[in-house]
Amino acid sequence: MANHSPRETFSGRQVFIFAAIGSAVGLGNIWRFPYVTFDNGGGAFIIPYIIALLTAGIPLIVLDYAIGHRYRGSAPLAFRRMKKSFEPFGWWQVLINVVIGLYYAVILGWAAVYTYFSLSSAWGADPADFFLHKFLQTAAQTSIGFEFVPHLVGPLAVMWILAVGILALGVQKGIGKSSMIFMPVLVVMFIILVIISLTLPGASKGLNALFTPDWTKLAQPSVWIAAYGQIFFSLSICFGIMITYASYLKKDSDLTGTGAVVGFANSSFELLAGIGVFSALGFMAVSAGKEVSEVASSGIGLAFIAFPTIIDQAPFGRLIGILFFGSLTLAALTSFISVLEVIIAAVQDKLKLGRIRSTLMVGIPMGIVSTILFGTTTGLPILDTVDKFVNTFGIIAVALCFISAITFSGLSGILITHINQTSSIKVGKKWWLFAGIITPIVLAYMLFSEGYKILTEGYGGYPAWFINTFGWGMSIGLAAVGFLISRLKWKNELKFLPDEEK
Ligand code: ALA
Repeated sequence: MANHSPRETFSGRQVFIFAAIGSAVGLGNIWRFPYVTFDNGGGAFIIPYIIALLTAGIPLIVLDYAIGHRYRGSAPLAFRRMKKSFEPFGWWQVLINVVIGLYYAVILGWAAVYTYFSLSSAWGADPADFFLHKFLQTAAQTSIGFEFVPHLVGPLAVMWILAVGILALGVQKGIGKSSMIFMPVLVVMFIILVIISLTLPGASKGLNALFTPDWTKLAQPSVWIAAYGQIFFSLSICFGIMITYASYLKKDSDLTGTGAVVGFANSSFELLAGIGVFSALGFMAVSAGKEVSEVASSGIGLAFIAFPTIIDQAPFGRLIGILFFGSLTLAALTSFISVLEVIIAAVQDKLKLGRIRSTLMVGIPMGIVSTILFGTTTGLPILDTVDKFVNTFGIIAVALCFISAITFSGLSGILITHINQTSSIKVGKKWWLFAGIITPIVLAYMLFSEGYKILTEGYGGYPAWFINTFGWGMSIGLAAVGFLISRLKWKNELKFLPDEEK
Protein backbone atom coordinates (compact mmCIF):
# COMPACT_ATOMS: atom_id res chain seq x y z
CA MET A 1 0.00 0.00 0.00
CA ALA A 2 0.88 3.62 -0.04
CA ASN A 3 4.14 5.06 1.12
CA HIS A 4 3.93 6.60 4.58
CA SER A 5 7.03 8.76 4.38
CA PRO A 6 6.10 12.36 5.10
CA ARG A 7 5.27 14.14 1.90
CA GLU A 8 4.16 17.73 1.70
CA THR A 9 0.47 18.20 0.94
CA PHE A 10 -1.91 20.94 -0.03
CA SER A 11 -4.11 21.77 2.94
CA GLY A 12 -7.28 20.92 1.05
CA ARG A 13 -9.05 20.41 -2.25
CA GLN A 14 -9.73 24.11 -2.73
CA VAL A 15 -6.04 25.04 -2.53
CA PHE A 16 -5.20 22.26 -4.95
CA ILE A 17 -7.84 23.51 -7.41
CA PHE A 18 -6.42 27.03 -7.25
CA ALA A 19 -2.89 25.73 -7.80
CA ALA A 20 -3.97 23.48 -10.69
CA ILE A 21 -5.92 26.30 -12.35
CA GLY A 22 -2.95 28.58 -11.70
CA SER A 23 -0.79 26.15 -13.62
CA ALA A 24 -3.28 25.68 -16.43
CA VAL A 25 -4.13 29.32 -17.00
CA GLY A 26 -1.05 30.84 -18.59
CA LEU A 27 0.31 32.14 -21.84
CA GLY A 28 -1.55 29.31 -23.56
CA ASN A 29 -4.86 30.88 -22.60
CA ILE A 30 -4.19 34.55 -23.04
CA TRP A 31 -2.15 34.74 -26.18
CA ARG A 32 -2.31 31.34 -27.78
CA PHE A 33 -5.97 30.39 -27.67
CA PRO A 34 -7.44 33.57 -29.25
CA TYR A 35 -5.19 33.41 -32.29
CA VAL A 36 -5.34 29.62 -32.67
CA THR A 37 -9.14 29.88 -32.72
CA PHE A 38 -9.14 32.73 -35.22
CA ASP A 39 -6.65 30.95 -37.46
CA ASN A 40 -8.43 27.60 -37.41
CA GLY A 41 -11.98 28.30 -38.42
CA GLY A 42 -13.17 30.81 -35.80
CA GLY A 43 -16.51 29.68 -34.37
CA ALA A 44 -16.14 26.34 -36.13
CA PHE A 45 -12.93 25.67 -34.16
CA ILE A 46 -15.04 25.41 -31.02
CA ILE A 47 -16.18 21.95 -32.22
CA PRO A 48 -12.76 20.26 -32.43
CA TYR A 49 -11.74 22.19 -29.33
CA ILE A 50 -14.66 20.87 -27.27
CA ILE A 51 -14.18 17.37 -28.65
CA ALA A 52 -10.48 17.53 -27.74
CA LEU A 53 -11.36 18.82 -24.27
CA LEU A 54 -13.94 16.11 -23.57
CA THR A 55 -12.23 13.14 -25.20
CA ALA A 56 -8.60 13.95 -24.36
CA GLY A 57 -8.29 16.93 -21.99
CA ILE A 58 -10.53 15.84 -19.13
CA PRO A 59 -9.75 12.08 -19.42
CA LEU A 60 -6.01 12.81 -19.38
CA ILE A 61 -6.13 15.31 -16.56
CA VAL A 62 -7.78 12.51 -14.56
CA LEU A 63 -5.07 10.10 -15.71
CA ASP A 64 -2.34 12.49 -14.53
CA TYR A 65 -4.11 12.95 -11.20
CA ALA A 66 -4.51 9.20 -10.78
CA ILE A 67 -0.81 8.53 -11.41
CA GLY A 68 0.35 11.30 -9.08
CA HIS A 69 -2.18 10.50 -6.39
CA ARG A 70 -1.80 6.72 -6.35
CA TYR A 71 1.99 6.61 -6.58
CA ARG A 72 2.62 9.78 -4.57
CA GLY A 73 5.78 10.93 -6.20
CA SER A 74 7.35 13.37 -8.60
CA ALA A 75 6.89 12.27 -12.21
CA PRO A 76 9.95 9.94 -12.34
CA LEU A 77 9.19 8.39 -8.96
CA ALA A 78 5.49 7.96 -9.72
CA PHE A 79 6.25 6.25 -13.03
CA ARG A 80 8.91 4.07 -11.42
CA ARG A 81 6.49 3.00 -8.75
CA MET A 82 3.96 2.13 -11.40
CA LYS A 83 6.49 0.00 -13.29
CA LYS A 84 10.26 0.22 -13.01
CA SER A 85 10.80 0.44 -16.73
CA PHE A 86 8.51 3.50 -16.91
CA GLU A 87 10.91 5.76 -15.03
CA PRO A 88 12.41 7.32 -18.21
CA PHE A 89 9.00 8.81 -19.07
CA GLY A 90 9.17 10.80 -15.87
CA TRP A 91 12.65 12.17 -16.59
CA TRP A 92 11.66 12.98 -20.15
CA GLN A 93 8.80 15.04 -18.71
CA VAL A 94 11.15 16.70 -16.22
CA LEU A 95 13.46 17.73 -19.06
CA ILE A 96 10.53 19.07 -21.08
CA ASN A 97 9.83 21.31 -18.11
CA VAL A 98 13.47 22.37 -17.98
CA VAL A 99 13.17 23.62 -21.55
CA ILE A 100 9.76 25.24 -21.06
CA GLY A 101 10.97 26.86 -17.83
CA LEU A 102 13.98 28.39 -19.58
CA TYR A 103 11.87 30.33 -22.05
CA TYR A 104 8.71 30.81 -20.00
CA ALA A 105 10.73 32.92 -17.57
CA VAL A 106 11.78 35.18 -20.37
CA ILE A 107 8.27 35.97 -21.55
CA LEU A 108 7.26 36.44 -17.95
CA GLY A 109 10.05 38.99 -17.56
CA TRP A 110 8.98 40.84 -20.70
CA ALA A 111 5.36 40.91 -19.53
CA ALA A 112 6.39 42.38 -16.18
CA VAL A 113 8.51 45.06 -17.85
CA TYR A 114 5.71 45.90 -20.29
CA THR A 115 3.31 46.36 -17.36
CA TYR A 116 5.62 49.13 -16.26
CA PHE A 117 6.14 50.43 -19.80
CA SER A 118 2.35 50.78 -20.12
CA LEU A 119 2.42 53.65 -17.64
CA SER A 120 4.33 55.87 -20.04
CA SER A 121 3.92 54.13 -23.42
CA ALA A 122 7.68 53.65 -23.31
CA TRP A 123 7.61 51.98 -26.75
CA GLY A 124 7.09 55.34 -28.48
CA ALA A 125 5.54 55.72 -31.93
CA ASP A 126 6.56 52.37 -33.40
CA PRO A 127 5.94 49.47 -30.97
CA ALA A 128 7.21 46.82 -33.43
CA ASP A 129 10.51 48.56 -33.99
CA PHE A 130 10.84 49.25 -30.29
CA PHE A 131 10.17 45.62 -29.30
CA LEU A 132 12.40 43.93 -31.84
CA HIS A 133 15.23 46.39 -32.19
CA LYS A 134 15.42 48.52 -29.07
CA PHE A 135 14.01 46.16 -26.43
CA LEU A 136 15.13 42.71 -27.62
CA GLN A 137 17.89 43.97 -29.92
CA THR A 138 17.29 40.90 -32.05
CA ALA A 139 20.23 39.97 -34.23
CA ALA A 140 19.67 40.66 -37.91
CA GLN A 141 20.48 37.08 -38.83
CA THR A 142 19.84 33.76 -37.16
CA SER A 143 23.30 33.22 -35.81
CA ILE A 144 24.57 32.32 -32.40
CA GLY A 145 26.12 35.42 -30.97
CA PHE A 146 25.50 35.70 -27.29
CA GLU A 147 25.72 39.42 -26.85
CA PHE A 148 24.08 40.41 -23.62
CA VAL A 149 21.24 42.88 -23.61
CA PRO A 150 21.65 44.27 -20.08
CA HIS A 151 18.10 45.55 -19.65
CA LEU A 152 16.69 42.07 -20.41
CA VAL A 153 18.82 40.43 -17.74
CA GLY A 154 17.38 42.42 -14.80
CA PRO A 155 13.70 41.42 -15.18
CA LEU A 156 14.68 37.86 -15.99
CA ALA A 157 16.69 37.63 -12.79
CA VAL A 158 13.86 39.17 -10.76
CA MET A 159 11.37 36.61 -12.08
CA TRP A 160 13.71 33.74 -11.25
CA ILE A 161 14.28 35.04 -7.73
CA LEU A 162 10.53 35.55 -7.21
CA ALA A 163 9.56 32.08 -8.43
CA VAL A 164 12.40 30.34 -6.59
CA GLY A 165 11.51 32.28 -3.43
CA ILE A 166 7.89 31.11 -3.61
CA LEU A 167 8.88 27.52 -4.36
CA ALA A 168 11.38 27.45 -1.50
CA LEU A 169 8.47 28.09 0.88
CA GLY A 170 7.07 24.70 -0.02
CA VAL A 171 3.89 23.17 -1.42
CA GLN A 172 1.25 24.68 0.83
CA LYS A 173 2.95 27.88 2.02
CA GLY A 174 4.53 28.68 -1.33
CA ILE A 175 2.61 27.19 -4.25
CA GLY A 176 -0.76 26.92 -2.49
CA LYS A 177 -0.82 30.32 -0.80
CA SER A 178 0.54 32.20 -3.80
CA SER A 179 -2.11 30.62 -6.05
CA MET A 180 -4.84 31.55 -3.56
CA ILE A 181 -3.69 35.17 -3.82
CA PHE A 182 -2.69 35.47 -7.47
CA MET A 183 -5.61 33.64 -9.08
CA PRO A 184 -8.47 35.75 -7.70
CA VAL A 185 -6.51 38.93 -8.48
CA LEU A 186 -5.92 37.65 -12.02
CA VAL A 187 -9.59 36.81 -12.57
CA VAL A 188 -10.77 40.21 -11.32
CA MET A 189 -8.19 42.09 -13.41
CA PHE A 190 -9.00 40.06 -16.48
CA ILE A 191 -12.77 40.49 -16.17
CA ILE A 192 -12.30 44.28 -15.90
CA LEU A 193 -10.07 44.14 -18.98
CA VAL A 194 -12.69 42.19 -20.94
CA ILE A 195 -15.45 44.62 -19.92
CA ILE A 196 -13.38 47.63 -21.03
CA SER A 197 -12.43 45.89 -24.28
CA LEU A 198 -16.07 45.12 -25.04
CA THR A 199 -16.92 48.81 -24.81
CA LEU A 200 -14.26 49.86 -27.33
CA PRO A 201 -15.50 51.01 -30.72
CA GLY A 202 -15.02 48.14 -33.18
CA ALA A 203 -15.23 45.41 -30.52
CA SER A 204 -18.08 43.68 -32.34
CA LYS A 205 -16.02 43.57 -35.50
CA GLY A 206 -13.31 41.73 -33.61
CA LEU A 207 -15.78 39.29 -32.10
CA ASN A 208 -17.34 38.62 -35.49
CA ALA A 209 -13.90 37.87 -36.89
CA LEU A 210 -13.18 35.52 -34.02
CA PHE A 211 -16.45 33.66 -33.89
CA THR A 212 -17.78 33.62 -37.46
CA PRO A 213 -17.51 29.93 -38.30
CA ASP A 214 -15.61 28.72 -41.32
CA TRP A 215 -17.01 25.19 -41.45
CA THR A 216 -14.78 24.16 -44.36
CA LYS A 217 -11.84 24.25 -41.96
CA LEU A 218 -13.21 21.24 -40.11
CA ALA A 219 -12.14 19.06 -43.01
CA GLN A 220 -8.50 20.05 -42.49
CA PRO A 221 -6.53 17.71 -40.20
CA SER A 222 -4.32 20.64 -39.15
CA VAL A 223 -7.31 22.24 -37.43
CA TRP A 224 -7.89 19.14 -35.31
CA ILE A 225 -4.18 18.97 -34.55
CA ALA A 226 -4.30 22.57 -33.40
CA ALA A 227 -7.23 21.79 -31.10
CA TYR A 228 -5.49 18.85 -29.45
CA GLY A 229 -2.20 20.73 -29.19
CA GLN A 230 -3.94 23.68 -27.57
CA ILE A 231 -5.65 21.45 -24.99
CA PHE A 232 -2.42 19.69 -23.97
CA PHE A 233 -0.34 22.81 -23.42
CA SER A 234 -3.10 24.88 -21.97
CA LEU A 235 -4.33 22.30 -19.47
CA SER A 236 -0.75 21.49 -18.41
CA ILE A 237 -1.38 17.79 -19.01
CA CYS A 238 0.97 14.93 -19.83
CA PHE A 239 4.17 16.76 -18.98
CA GLY A 240 4.45 15.96 -15.34
CA ILE A 241 2.82 19.01 -13.77
CA MET A 242 -0.48 17.46 -12.79
CA ILE A 243 1.23 14.25 -11.67
CA THR A 244 3.44 16.29 -9.35
CA TYR A 245 0.62 18.46 -8.00
CA ALA A 246 -1.69 15.47 -7.48
CA SER A 247 1.02 13.77 -5.46
CA TYR A 248 0.45 16.52 -2.88
CA LEU A 249 -3.29 15.84 -2.65
CA LYS A 250 -4.60 14.27 0.52
CA LYS A 251 -5.45 10.58 0.31
CA ASP A 252 -9.23 10.80 0.09
CA SER A 253 -9.48 13.30 -2.73
CA ASP A 254 -12.11 13.46 -5.44
CA LEU A 255 -10.00 13.13 -8.58
CA THR A 256 -12.62 13.15 -11.33
CA GLY A 257 -14.73 15.99 -9.92
CA THR A 258 -11.59 18.06 -9.41
CA GLY A 259 -10.36 17.30 -12.93
CA ALA A 260 -13.66 18.43 -14.41
CA VAL A 261 -13.61 21.67 -12.40
CA VAL A 262 -10.05 22.49 -13.47
CA GLY A 263 -10.70 21.57 -17.11
CA PHE A 264 -13.82 23.68 -17.45
CA ALA A 265 -12.32 26.60 -15.50
CA ASN A 266 -9.34 26.64 -17.83
CA SER A 267 -11.50 26.60 -20.94
CA SER A 268 -13.78 29.31 -19.54
CA PHE A 269 -10.76 31.52 -18.99
CA GLU A 270 -9.62 30.75 -22.50
CA LEU A 271 -12.95 31.82 -23.95
CA LEU A 272 -12.86 34.99 -21.88
CA ALA A 273 -9.38 35.72 -23.20
CA GLY A 274 -10.60 35.21 -26.77
CA ILE A 275 -13.40 37.72 -26.21
CA GLY A 276 -11.13 40.28 -24.54
CA VAL A 277 -8.28 40.02 -27.02
CA PHE A 278 -10.43 40.10 -30.15
CA SER A 279 -12.60 42.98 -28.91
CA ALA A 280 -9.37 44.95 -28.56
CA LEU A 281 -8.13 43.79 -31.97
CA GLY A 282 -11.48 44.85 -33.49
CA PHE A 283 -10.85 48.32 -32.10
CA MET A 284 -7.34 48.32 -33.51
CA ALA A 285 -8.59 47.26 -36.96
CA VAL A 286 -11.33 49.89 -37.04
CA SER A 287 -8.95 52.65 -35.90
CA ALA A 288 -6.48 51.74 -38.63
CA GLY A 289 -9.18 51.21 -41.27
CA LYS A 290 -8.03 47.63 -41.73
CA GLU A 291 -9.48 44.14 -41.50
CA VAL A 292 -9.10 42.23 -38.25
CA SER A 293 -7.09 39.60 -40.13
CA GLU A 294 -4.53 42.28 -40.97
CA VAL A 295 -3.93 43.24 -37.36
CA ALA A 296 -4.34 39.86 -35.64
CA SER A 297 -1.18 37.99 -34.85
CA SER A 298 -0.11 35.19 -32.60
CA GLY A 299 1.76 35.06 -29.32
CA ILE A 300 4.64 37.44 -29.07
CA GLY A 301 3.43 39.73 -31.85
CA LEU A 302 -0.01 39.96 -30.30
CA ALA A 303 1.16 40.86 -26.83
CA PHE A 304 4.21 43.01 -27.46
CA ILE A 305 3.36 44.67 -30.75
CA ALA A 306 -0.43 44.75 -31.23
CA PHE A 307 -1.34 45.52 -27.62
CA PRO A 308 1.00 48.50 -27.26
CA THR A 309 -0.66 49.96 -30.36
CA ILE A 310 -4.10 49.42 -28.82
CA ILE A 311 -2.93 50.93 -25.54
CA ASP A 312 -1.74 54.06 -27.35
CA GLN A 313 -5.01 54.60 -29.16
CA ALA A 314 -7.78 53.35 -26.91
CA PRO A 315 -9.68 55.29 -24.29
CA PHE A 316 -8.35 54.11 -20.89
CA GLY A 317 -5.31 52.87 -22.80
CA ARG A 318 -2.97 52.90 -19.81
CA LEU A 319 -5.46 51.00 -17.71
CA ILE A 320 -5.84 48.44 -20.50
CA GLY A 321 -2.06 48.12 -20.59
CA ILE A 322 -1.69 47.56 -16.87
CA LEU A 323 -4.57 45.07 -16.82
CA PHE A 324 -3.39 43.16 -19.89
CA PHE A 325 0.30 42.91 -19.05
CA GLY A 326 -0.43 42.55 -15.34
CA SER A 327 -2.74 39.60 -16.12
CA LEU A 328 -0.17 38.09 -18.44
CA THR A 329 2.46 38.38 -15.71
CA LEU A 330 0.31 36.77 -13.01
CA ALA A 331 -0.97 34.00 -15.30
CA ALA A 332 2.55 33.22 -16.51
CA LEU A 333 4.04 33.35 -13.01
CA THR A 334 1.71 30.69 -11.57
CA SER A 335 2.30 28.46 -14.61
CA PHE A 336 6.06 29.03 -14.40
CA ILE A 337 6.02 27.98 -10.75
CA SER A 338 4.27 24.72 -11.67
CA VAL A 339 6.79 24.03 -14.43
CA LEU A 340 9.71 24.46 -12.01
CA GLU A 341 7.99 22.37 -9.34
CA VAL A 342 8.10 19.30 -11.61
CA ILE A 343 11.89 19.56 -11.72
CA ILE A 344 12.36 20.43 -8.06
CA ALA A 345 10.15 17.55 -6.90
CA ALA A 346 12.09 15.10 -9.07
CA VAL A 347 15.47 16.28 -7.76
CA GLN A 348 14.12 16.17 -4.24
CA ASP A 349 12.93 12.57 -4.64
CA LYS A 350 15.95 11.25 -6.49
CA LEU A 351 18.61 12.81 -4.28
CA LYS A 352 16.57 12.80 -1.08
CA LEU A 353 17.18 16.49 -0.52
CA GLY A 354 15.25 19.06 1.49
CA ARG A 355 12.92 21.57 -0.19
CA ILE A 356 15.23 24.59 0.00
CA ARG A 357 18.32 22.78 -1.26
CA SER A 358 16.51 21.16 -4.16
CA THR A 359 14.86 24.46 -5.09
CA LEU A 360 18.22 26.23 -5.20
CA MET A 361 19.85 23.33 -7.01
CA VAL A 362 17.30 23.69 -9.78
CA GLY A 363 16.69 27.44 -9.71
CA ILE A 364 20.25 28.77 -9.76
CA PRO A 365 21.66 26.84 -12.75
CA MET A 366 18.43 27.18 -14.71
CA GLY A 367 18.31 30.91 -14.03
CA ILE A 368 21.87 31.27 -15.33
CA VAL A 369 21.24 29.22 -18.48
CA SER A 370 17.98 31.04 -19.12
CA THR A 371 19.81 34.37 -18.96
CA ILE A 372 22.62 33.22 -21.23
CA LEU A 373 20.21 31.83 -23.83
CA PHE A 374 17.53 34.48 -23.77
CA GLY A 375 19.00 37.63 -22.28
CA THR A 376 20.93 38.03 -25.50
CA THR A 377 20.48 39.09 -29.10
CA THR A 378 19.89 35.50 -30.28
CA GLY A 379 16.96 34.92 -27.96
CA LEU A 380 13.89 35.27 -30.14
CA PRO A 381 14.52 32.64 -32.86
CA ILE A 382 15.65 30.10 -30.26
CA LEU A 383 12.55 30.77 -28.19
CA ASP A 384 10.25 30.39 -31.16
CA THR A 385 11.86 27.15 -32.34
CA VAL A 386 12.16 25.56 -28.93
CA ASP A 387 8.53 26.42 -28.12
CA LYS A 388 7.26 24.80 -31.30
CA PHE A 389 9.34 21.65 -30.96
CA VAL A 390 8.98 21.04 -27.25
CA ASN A 391 5.22 21.28 -27.55
CA THR A 392 4.98 18.82 -30.39
CA PHE A 393 7.96 16.52 -30.22
CA GLY A 394 8.23 16.81 -26.46
CA ILE A 395 4.79 16.89 -24.86
CA ILE A 396 2.85 15.06 -27.57
CA ALA A 397 5.62 12.47 -28.01
CA VAL A 398 5.98 11.66 -24.32
CA ALA A 399 2.18 11.53 -23.95
CA LEU A 400 1.95 9.04 -26.80
CA CYS A 401 4.70 6.87 -25.32
CA PHE A 402 3.60 6.72 -21.71
CA ILE A 403 -0.11 6.31 -22.40
CA SER A 404 0.57 3.50 -24.89
CA ALA A 405 2.92 1.87 -22.39
CA ILE A 406 0.21 1.86 -19.72
CA THR A 407 -2.28 0.42 -22.18
CA PHE A 408 0.06 -2.33 -23.35
CA SER A 409 1.11 -3.20 -19.78
CA GLY A 410 -2.51 -3.57 -18.77
CA LEU A 411 -2.12 -1.21 -15.82
CA SER A 412 -5.24 0.82 -16.47
CA GLY A 413 -7.36 -1.38 -14.21
CA ILE A 414 -5.29 -0.41 -11.15
CA LEU A 415 -5.79 3.25 -11.96
CA ILE A 416 -9.53 2.80 -12.49
CA THR A 417 -9.88 1.11 -9.10
CA HIS A 418 -7.83 3.85 -7.49
CA ILE A 419 -9.86 6.67 -9.00
CA ASN A 420 -13.16 5.08 -8.08
CA GLN A 421 -12.17 4.62 -4.44
CA THR A 422 -12.52 8.33 -3.73
CA SER A 423 -14.02 10.08 -6.73
CA SER A 424 -17.50 11.47 -7.23
CA ILE A 425 -17.80 10.60 -10.91
CA LYS A 426 -16.82 6.97 -11.44
CA VAL A 427 -14.75 5.89 -14.41
CA GLY A 428 -14.59 2.59 -16.22
CA LYS A 429 -13.58 1.02 -19.52
CA LYS A 430 -15.08 3.90 -21.48
CA TRP A 431 -12.68 6.31 -19.81
CA TRP A 432 -9.75 4.19 -20.83
CA LEU A 433 -11.10 3.85 -24.33
CA PHE A 434 -10.74 7.63 -24.69
CA ALA A 435 -7.65 8.21 -22.54
CA GLY A 436 -5.71 5.10 -23.43
CA ILE A 437 -6.72 4.09 -26.93
CA ILE A 438 -8.33 6.83 -29.00
CA THR A 439 -6.07 9.63 -27.74
CA PRO A 440 -2.79 7.84 -28.55
CA ILE A 441 -4.06 7.19 -32.08
CA VAL A 442 -4.78 10.90 -32.50
CA LEU A 443 -1.39 11.77 -31.00
CA ALA A 444 0.46 9.39 -33.29
CA TYR A 445 -1.24 10.99 -36.26
CA MET A 446 -0.36 14.48 -34.98
CA LEU A 447 3.29 13.59 -34.58
CA PHE A 448 3.54 12.01 -37.97
CA SER A 449 1.79 14.82 -39.77
CA GLU A 450 3.66 17.65 -38.00
CA GLY A 451 6.98 15.84 -38.43
CA TYR A 452 6.36 15.37 -42.12
CA LYS A 453 5.40 19.01 -42.55
CA ILE A 454 8.51 20.34 -40.85
CA LEU A 455 10.82 17.89 -42.61
CA THR A 456 9.47 18.88 -46.00
CA GLU A 457 8.76 22.59 -45.49
CA GLY A 458 11.14 23.57 -42.68
CA TYR A 459 10.03 25.81 -39.85
CA GLY A 460 9.81 29.58 -39.54
CA GLY A 461 12.26 30.12 -42.39
CA TYR A 462 15.18 29.30 -40.09
CA PRO A 463 18.28 27.62 -41.54
CA ALA A 464 18.48 23.81 -41.38
CA TRP A 465 21.41 23.77 -38.92
CA PHE A 466 19.40 25.92 -36.55
CA ILE A 467 16.31 23.67 -36.68
CA ASN A 468 18.49 20.58 -36.38
CA THR A 469 20.13 21.94 -33.22
CA PHE A 470 17.37 23.73 -31.32
CA GLY A 471 14.46 21.77 -32.80
CA TRP A 472 15.18 18.14 -33.61
CA GLY A 473 18.42 17.90 -31.62
CA MET A 474 16.81 19.36 -28.51
CA SER A 475 13.69 17.16 -28.80
CA ILE A 476 15.56 13.89 -29.30
CA GLY A 477 18.10 14.95 -26.67
CA LEU A 478 15.36 15.27 -24.04
CA ALA A 479 14.21 11.69 -24.51
CA ALA A 480 17.78 10.34 -24.65
CA VAL A 481 19.04 12.24 -21.60
CA GLY A 482 15.83 11.34 -19.74
CA PHE A 483 16.63 7.69 -20.34
CA LEU A 484 20.22 8.13 -19.13
CA ILE A 485 19.15 9.89 -15.94
CA SER A 486 16.77 7.02 -15.18
CA ARG A 487 19.81 4.72 -15.06
CA LEU A 488 21.32 6.67 -12.14
CA LYS A 489 20.83 5.23 -8.71
CA TRP A 490 18.12 6.57 -6.38
CA LYS A 491 19.19 7.90 -3.02
CA ASN A 492 15.66 7.48 -1.93
CA GLU A 493 14.96 3.89 -1.04
CA LEU A 494 11.77 2.61 -2.68
CA LYS A 495 9.34 1.87 0.09
CA PHE A 496 6.48 1.69 -2.31
CA LEU A 497 6.97 -1.25 -4.61
CA PRO A 498 6.01 -1.03 -8.24
CA ASP A 499 2.67 -2.71 -8.88
CA GLU A 500 4.40 -5.38 -10.97
CA GLU A 501 6.49 -6.51 -7.97
CA LYS A 502 3.66 -6.97 -5.50
N1 ALA B 1 -0.68 25.62 -19.12
C1 ALA B 1 0.27 26.65 -19.21
C2 ALA B 1 -0.13 27.66 -20.22
O1 ALA B 1 -1.22 27.64 -20.70
C3 ALA B 1 1.63 26.09 -19.43
O2 ALA B 1 0.62 28.51 -20.54
